[in-house]
Formats: sequence, structure tokens, C-alpha cells
Amino acid sequence: MIDFGKLAGQNIVDLVPYKPGKPIKELERELGIKNSVKLASNENPVGCSPKATQAIIDLFPEISRYPYGDAFYLRQTVADFYNVSGDKLLFGTGSNEIIELAIRTFLSDGEHVLSPAPSFSVYGIISQAAGKGCKWVPVKEGFKFDFEALAEAIDEKTRMIFLANPNNPTGEYFTQSEITDFMKKVPEDVIVVMDEAYIEYADAPDFPDTLAMLDDYKNMFIMRTFSKAYGLASVRAGYVIACEEAIDMMNRVRQPFNTNMLAQVAAKAAMEDSDHLAKVLKENKDGKEYLYSQFEKLSLKYIPTQANFILVNVKDGEKVFNELLKEGVIVRYLGPGLAEWIRVSVGTMKENEIFINKLQKVTDNL
Ligand SMILES: Cc1ncc(COP(=O)(O)O)c(C=O)c1O
Repeated sequence: MIDFGKLAGQNIVDLVPYKPGKPIKELERELGIKNSVKLASNENPVGCSPKATQAIIDLFPEISRYPYGDAFYLRQTVADFYNVSGDKLLFGTGSNEIIELAIRTFLSDGEHVLSPAPSFSVYGIISQAAGKGCKWVPVKEGFKFDFEALAEAIDEKTRMIFLANPNNPTGEYFTQSEITDFMKKVPEDVIVVMDEAYIEYADAPDFPDTLAMLDDYKNMFIMRTFSKAYGLASVRAGYVIACEEAIDMMNRVRQPFNTNMLAQVAAKAAMEDSDHLAKVLKENKDGKEYLYSQFEKLSLKYIPTQANFILVNVKDGEKVFNELLKEGVIVRYLGPGLAEWIRVSVGTMKENEIFINKLQKVTDNL
């Protein structure tokens, strides 16, 4: 008998796969219910720009062709948008693929990545799958980033640091002065990946302008995505902005047609539609304020967010998560490390109201 575990290696046997939020259809099938609400995966409830949808429709007759391997037109749009050279950009199948490319390109055996904890679990999953380590450095009281501890944790085997800003799952952020001070302490051969998946939502005046830091820090990579504020989670498009030399190395590892053509045309159209983005951000801001006010009425502690989701303390996260599921509302329970909390994505106003009604019912009955 073939021992596939042995063939794969212990790092793969020990791997716990990423658990995505439950799809609505699956829940409705299981419970025999209708009209359920999913606020579990930080998706954009408004949807993508109609111009992005049209770009996909217009592309249909051409889908028998391979995509542009270098994402030529999308690259130009993003380069113009940020006023950076196209040689500083690399696209991927969502920013998840960028995480994988960065790790595969730059980590050698025995090296590891660092990340604050809690943060995006995919950093650990991809490192482990690649046979590399991931060291998690706990955040401080109130989920604040602990840059002192992060700097102390860097050793000669640290090759990469992932900093999600705003952080997932907390919605917390770090400031311009915090990252400026931290970068001075990071050796230049340690790459700092700024994971800015939710940056479009961030409105704090002291939120870092990492693009302005790129010339000073060649070891800084800025990673962004079309999955969140641009509402294109399903087509998979993300990118990284970094110095030309680093992009050149990742380009050698990248699969030739990694970013599909539907993603390329949709992302380009989405980025060009600033009116739609403004609508998305307004809906999120209104939803966030509504949810804050309702949590306060229900005397539930929450973490003010810079993103499109909120961490809220419900005392018994797993129980509330399961009870909400029975009511047709899917949120996220994040495991024993955050046992008292659930994470809820900001939905449309109607979805937010349904969530609050059900949350009230569930917490009243606890
Ligand atoms: C912090 C963070 N980074 C990256 C991603 C990956 O996004 P995508 O691969 O859809 O671009 C997510 C998705 O939830 C995220 O929360």
C-alpha cells in the first residue's frame, strides 16, 4: 500500500487546511431554510462595478485564448493609478497567490516567516506547505501591534514578516510612525510584506502611506487585492508592488498564465470606476456605524475597525456562532484563541439589521 503521507512529508500531514466561511447555499440545504445571510468572509455586499461585469461579458467570445501572461493592460491601469512603474508590479490569483509566490521565491530551507498573532492564518498554512516555519508573535492588550516584540523575534533565520494592515481578524491598524520606526530596526535582507487587502476601507488620518516608503525600503512589499472593496473575490486578482529586482525574481517563479483574463479585464474596469468604489465605501461606513451603535445598545464590547468587518465580544463565540447559524446568519468563529469573540463582516443595511435582530435573540437566550 502506498503511504501518501510519507510521500508528502510530515509538514503536509500536519497541515490543517484553511476553513472558508460556509457558503449560503450549503447552510440552506442543511437546515432547509431560505433567505439566510452570510457575513463571514469579508466580502463586498454591494458587489463589483457594473463596468467590471460588462468587461467580463465582453470578454466571453475570447475565452478560448490564453490570458496575457504579463497582465499588460491591467498593469498599465494599476501603474497609472499609483503613479509607479509597471516593472514594480506583479499580479496573481488573488493576494493568496502573492503570499505563496513570495514565500516560494525568497525562503530557503530552515528559514521562517514572522507575523503578529492573531492575523491571517494563510501565512502559516502556505509556509508550512512549503516546508518553512511561521513564528507568531502575540499582539498586545486590546489587539494592538507589538512592534517591540516583533523586532526582538527577528533572528538570522527570519526571511519575511507579514503585516496585515488593517489586521484580519481584529480590524486594528498600525500607524505611520509605528511602521517607520519598525522598518529602521529590520535588517535589509528581511522582507516586510505589507498586506493591505483592506486598505481602501481605512480612513484613519495616521494610517501609513506605504507607497511613499517604497523608495527608501527595497525590502518592503505592498500587497493589495481586488477581492474586497472592488468586489471581485470570485475572479481572483491580487498584486504586489515592490522594487524591480524583487519583482523580477518572483516573475521567474510565477506560472506563465497565473492571472486569468476574466480577472484582468474585470479588475481593470473596477479600478477605473471610482464612483462605484465611493459607493462601496459609503455603504461600509454607514453599516459600521450602525453596527457600533447596536453593539453599544446591547452592551457588547467591540474593536473599532479600519476594515469591512468587526470583532465583537459575545462571551461564548462558538455558541453564538452555532446559534446564529440555526437562525440563518453565517458569521465567523475564530477558534479557542479568540473564544469570546465572533467576527462579522459589514453587510448591506438590510443584512446588518437581520444580523442584529438574530444576535439579540441568540444572546438573550444564552
Ligand atoms: C489579510 C488578508 N490578506 C489576504 C487575503 C486574501 O485575499 P485574496 O486572495 O482574495 O486576494 C485576505 C482574504 O480574506 C485577507 O483577509
